[in-house]
Amino acid sequence: MSNKLVSVKDYEIYAVKTLPKTVLGYYTSGACEEYTLSQNKQAFNRLRIIPRMLRNVCNRDYSVTVLGNRVRIPIGISPCAMHKMAHEDGECASAKAAGKHGAIFIHATLSTCSIEEVARAAPDTIKWFQLYIYKDKEMTKTLIRRAERAGYKALVLTVDAPVFGIRYIDIKNNFSLPSHLRLGNFTEEKSVISKSDGSGLTNYVTSLFEEKLVWEDVKWLKSITNLPIVVKGILSVADAKIAADIGCHAVFVSNHGGRQLDTAPASIEALPSIVKEVGHRIDVYLDCGIRHGTDVFKALALGAKMVFLAQPILWGLTYDGQKGVEDVLEIIINEFDNTMALTGCRTLADIEKDMVVHESIYSKL
Ligand SMILES: Cc1cc2nc3c(=O)[nH]c(=O)nc-3n(C[C@H](O)[C@H](O)[C@H](O)COP(=O)(O)O)c2cc1C
Repeated sequence: MSNKLVSVKDYEIYAVKTLPKTVLGYYTSGACEEYTLSQNKQAFNRLRIIPRMLRNVCNRDYSVTVLGNRVRIPIGISPCAMHKMAHEDGECASAKAAGKHGAIFIHATLSTCSIEEVARAAPDTIKWFQLYIYKDKEMTKTLIRRAERAGYKALVLTVDAPVFGIRYIDIKNNFSLPSHLRLGNFTEEKSVISKSDGSGLTNYVTSLFEEKLVWEDVKWLKSITNLPIVVKGILSVADAKIAADIGCHAVFVSNHGGRQLDTAPASIEALPSIVKEVGHRIDVYLDCGIRHGTDVFKALALGAKMVFLAQPILWGLTYDGQKGVEDVLEIIINEFDNTMALTGCRTLADIEKDMVVHESIYSKL
């Protein structure tokens, strides 16, 4: 049998076989019973795509303008901490791979390459910066100024982590950042996630992140930067409405890959009502559970303007650094292109909401 890796699943199988136990545990774990983690994929599988025929799908084009920038595809890389545990080139490799495909790269606060290193490595990639607000507001401000100076095009404020989710695997493994690695955006004690009893990351977050975070902090953020603000981790219509009302540029429907509140809805389940409420006012993006081009199509049909993915990127990175990430993106893009052609869609505007239905409508037949 050939060892050729042809699907995202193949890359996942390779990574599962290869990564050290503690790293794999950190990359794959969800909170508590991991119910939301599993639902992120299953909820996509409960949706069916109804294709249209005879609509001339020649010269397909998926480009779209997002926060003022034209991108080639509505697919990007979600913020994800500590890429160097997968490959020594870390976030620099992932950002370069995103650029090769004209995709957006979101750089995480808790990255192992710094804001500036990624900017230098991937000058042509459209980069957004994911922000955690630290108790130390001056330090938070410094991160924002560094992202602005380095040419990042938006701030993605993660709001679903005032405390960290309970990830039993990390607790069992006493997860910490391997001692030869550092968090690239910081120096001294803020750059290490030390070994401790339980998850070292949870201890880091508890001591440094702002637990008192409220919407006033989002207003504060707006007051100190001109970058567009994307609020990541929104699952309710009420919060999406507040974000739109206070002038955020986009909401990012996400349950953090099932890593925060267990039994929260799958992102794709939460999406339609949020799009209905705010989709005509601000952009709505989505991540969690995207593994196939058909998933991308479903999310776009239900109103997301862009989708992002995290775990598959880590599998590609583990396999072969930048090249591996390029390959994984290529697989998803190719599957999406195939889905577009087979559904009679030449551009994103051709995707219609009623082309995606819940499987339950068929059980009544
Ligand atoms: C290993 C790992 C680390 C992550 N780190 C961050 C982070 O630092 N900041 C953040 O906002 N989200 C983080 N996320 C959540 C992702 O941005 C994203 O919401 C989610 O993982 C997408 O789901 P997917 O992995 O199914 O594609 C992380 C996810 C994973 C798997």
